[in-house]
Amino acid sequence: MQHKELKIVYKELALDELNAVQKNLIKLAIAATQQAYAPYSEFYVGCALQMRTGEVLSGSNQENAAYPSGLCAERTAIYHAGHTYPNGTIIEIAIAARSDKWKTENPVIPCGACMQAMIEYEKKQGSLIKLLLYGNDAKIYQLSGIKDLMPFQFELKVQPERG
Ligand code: THU
Repeated sequence: MQHKELKIVYKELALDELNAVQKNLIKLAIAATQQAYAPYSEFYVGCALQMRTGEVLSGSNQENAAYPSGLCAERTAIYHAGHTYPNGTIIEIAIAARSDKWKTENPVIPCGACMQAMIEYEKKQGSLIKLLLYGNDAKIYQLSGIKDLMPFQFELKVQPERG
């Protein structure tokens, strides 16, 4: 038996330690929470994506009376980007949340399904996507790639040719 260990490296920062592009991305993620449709959970999530070419796209959670039919902010945003810029490269994603009912002081960590969805885009574009997770006490977690959040992920690999 072998014991193995995985280490996740992330930074905890204050808002004023970010550069102007990152501050803007967080501002847009916070603004995107206003477009969330979350009458069931009352937990409003916003997500903003920075494309390499300068464009910024956003998304928010969209709920449904049939609960599992709703979609998280991260997947709304990333699929929006995949559709709008099918050959584009996402360089950074900011996520924010607000709620009067639930605590949002600490940065919101994307759910497992959103991690898996975002990792797919790292693979598709062949480069890491940086992540900024914003908490309302202005504490920010910064990761250098989505795959750091989910080091083990499901992937389909083509079988080598059988001869
Ligand atoms: N939600 C997100 O949009 N992103 C996350 O990372 C976690 C949860 C949404 C889903 C649902 O609309 C609400 O937050 C409460 O779970």
